Amino acid sequence: MIIGILKESGTEKRVAILPGEVSILKKMGLDVFVETGAGESAFATDSAYIAAGALTAERKDLISKSAMLLAINPPLEDDISSFNDGQVLCLVLNPVENSKWLENARLHGLTVLALDLVPRITRAQSMDILSSMATVSGYKAVLDAASLLPRFFPMFMSAAGTIKPSRVLILGAGVAGLQAIAIARKLGAIVEVFDVRSAVKEEVKSLGGKFIEVEGAKEDAAAGGYAVEQTAEFKLKQQELIQQRAIAADVVIATAQIPGKKAPVLLLKETVNAMKPGSVIVDLAASSGGNCELTQNGKNVVVNGVNIIGKSDYPSDMPTDASKMFGCNIINLLKIMVDKDGNLNLNMQDDIINGTTAVHGKEYVSQRVKHMLNIK
Ligand code: NAI
Repeated sequence: MIIGILKESGTEKRVAILPGEVSILKKMGLDVFVETGAGESAFATDSAYIAAGALTAERKDLISKSAMLLAINPPLEDDISSFNDGQVLCLVLNPVENSKWLENARLHGLTVLALDLVPRITRAQSMDILSSMATVSGYKAVLDAASLLPRFFPMFMSAAGTIKPSRVLILGAGVAGLQAIAIARKLGAIVEVFDVRSAVKEEVKSLGGKFIEVEGAKEDAAAGGYAVEQTAEFKLKQQELIQQRAIAADVVIATAQIPGKKAPVLLLKETVNAMKPGSVIVDLAASSGGNCELTQNGKNVVVNGVNIIGKSDYPSDMPTDASKMFGCNIINLLKIMVDKDGNLNLNMQDDIINGTTAVHGKEYVSQRVKHMLNIK
């Protein structure tokens, strides 16, 4: 089978596969074509792809010859007509945001494999792009905050006196939050953490963070390890405690999300107004509404001297390692879909393949997509 790697558009700097991963695809019996210049923004040249065993092609030619195309983001809407009936596209879909795009792709007869829908089960851990990209975001969020903060992160005892360590507050200890705790601790900050899932308490402690418990959190085993919407009484209690800790903090890294819902509002306007001028809030939940009431998605705003960074595209700012992780995750997914002769075999009885297939044969397949888009 011929597999094509598309060049991203807009501000995206990542590429789905780097030259280092091409040889693995070749060993799987696949022929690899790369769109000219696809890796440029991730510092991967066309000649590096060619040296790794791939061939380059212009977009139109690449699309016409590939049975499967790999990308980070869905190609532009106008581009869909250039794809062929039966072709497979493997990318990060964001089904709600891109519902119109998906409907067009379905009508056009494309098969869309959504990497963000890979079920979060143990067998699929090595394919989990959401975890890989959240790792990058947690890391970059702390570094961004540290470079904006007018203070040191670590404690210093010098001839010029003692500098106290900074205090970092982490809201949400999922993949991004846990990475943020680890990096903030490595930089020497004191770290406090809120989450509604008691399961993360031990992980937070083992990374050197202090877990602040709010009594009465609602948990649901049926949510598959994810957080659920909390009661109004809990929210109030939590907001008060968060306000106390945020006023003492120099940095807040907000990562709290509830799958398929708007992000919970944890930092109120009053809390920001009471925070120290010069302090920094990085809101990684910006694209789903933000954990801070004043966050603006894709923007940096300053309110009363507090910097609020609403950023959801950190992985694109670290394109080399983010692309490397992305490519490794895709390859692990392909390993369960490609037979020993290098042909695609989409076995819909496999829960990973079924859960990841958004549309196939002009039908919606994934139950999660149907649920999110209200399709019967
Ligand atoms: P996420 O991005 O959906 O949420 C981030 C964090 O925010 C979560 O820890 C959540 O509990 C927390 N949160 C939500 N509402 C909150 C509130 N009101 N106050 C404070 N915190 C709140 O989560 P992420 O990082 O995608 O993963 C969460 C969980 O998913 C993991 O801990 C794990 O159980 C599961 N998972 C499973 C994987 C697998 O088995 N393949 C891979 C990755 C995650």
